[in-house]
Amino acid sequence: MKVLLLLGFVAVALAEVTRFDGEKVYRLRPKTDEHVAIIKELAGNIEVDFWSPEGAEQVVVSTEVDIHVDAAHTDIVSTLLQQSEMEHEVLVEDLQAYVEDQLDNQETKAYNYMKYNSWDKIEAWISSMASSNPSLISTQVIGTTFEGRAMTVMKIGKQSSSTKPAIFLDCGIHAREWISPAFCQWFVKEAVETYGSDAQMTSLLDQMDIIVLPVFNIDGYAYTWSNNRMWRKTRSRRSGSSCIGTDPNRNFDAGWCTTGASSNPCSDTYCGSKPESEVEVKAVADYIRRNLSTIKAYLTVHSYSQLLLFPYSYSYQLAAHHSELLQVAEGAAEALRSLYGTRYTSGPGAATIYPAAGGSDDWAYDLGVKYSYTFELRDTGRYGFLLPESQIKPTCEETMLAVKYITAHVLENL
Ligand code: ARG
Ligand code: ZN
Repeated sequence: MKVLLLLGFVAVALAEVTRFDGEKVYRLRPKTDEHVAIIKELAGNIEVDFWSPEGAEQVVVSTEVDIHVDAAHTDIVSTLLQQSEMEHEVLVEDLQAYVEDQLDNQETKAYNYMKYNSWDKIEAWISSMASSNPSLISTQVIGTTFEGRAMTVMKIGKQSSSTKPAIFLDCGIHAREWISPAFCQWFVKEAVETYGSDAQMTSLLDQMDIIVLPVFNIDGYAYTWSNNRMWRKTRSRRSGSSCIGTDPNRNFDAGWCTTGASSNPCSDTYCGSKPESEVEVKAVADYIRRNLSTIKAYLTVHSYSQLLLFPYSYSYQLAAHHSELLQVAEGAAEALRSLYGTRYTSGPGAATIYPAAGGSDDWAYDLGVKYSYTFELRDTGRYGFLLPESQIKPTCEETMLAVKYITAHVLENL
């Protein structure tokens, strides 16, 4: 009886994992206002999961639009696209196959930088890294997520009696962008392994601290492992709506909810009930405010699209330091490209992709953190969020070059 009960629970638990059999990802190329209207109408009638841009609000003529459509609606969508003569291709024929193929590293060791690691593994890794590198890493809990998980930052740098200037680096604002937390783990590993041998890393960590938040949206990340690989937002609940979660990168107090965000709690770009309504956003914002005098740069890592963005995204207005920010971004992109030829586009968010308010980069910049950058890592849509594990190493290696380029510039301009 007990065994049967247990089996019953296991079955229920398994059944809750969302599968994506027969679901497709389309890339649409709207060329006319009519095409744009068709996409928006479609999004209003059937459930469309926007991969890029993040929502129907951001669709304009001549952008590439990547959408994930469930199996029940692929026929309708295909027919509609034919009839409207909208240019399109099928990026992913069967999303479930991609979900499975993504884990293509056969290594069975418990923890591995070339694999995607669950939150439980990352959490254990944070403590073991800190305890085995006490002279270089210290940790601090900066808050608790909606579901009660501790948000721990890792401060990497040579110990000093005086407070050092610092760079804040976060990964995993959006739950399904798995390559992002993989990069933060890689960064910490590289720092520890190359301090003392690599001249650039050594001078960086001698003179500055890098404060790493390996997973910003931990609840969302855990949910992409346990239930729905395509989850983006936090997991907060609020009275008055049965829909769950807020987009943390629409929840910062920077032109909050004025453009490229939704006030509908069911939307994937829901801006929340007020700025910093999300405890995770509040925790990071409070930490940065408290340490503002030492924080010289803010770097945040997303995927996908291969972009290096800087303020503004809530407005088309150019940042006061536009030309310097652009120059550094272009240098960083060039450094990145030198390794494997991966091409990045750099520029201010609004003009380069689309206006979207409430982002962490704009907020940090307006607070006074001059060097504020958003990375959108590999790829450009071939795998999208389901980038295979075999690409973790090259992606992280090339991204390291860009991050080091930016940090070198920050260091020269302290
Ligand atoms: N894909 C990211 C997002 O939409 C881009 C962030 C750019 N910055 C911004 N403040 N919107 O969240
Ligand atoms: Zn993102």
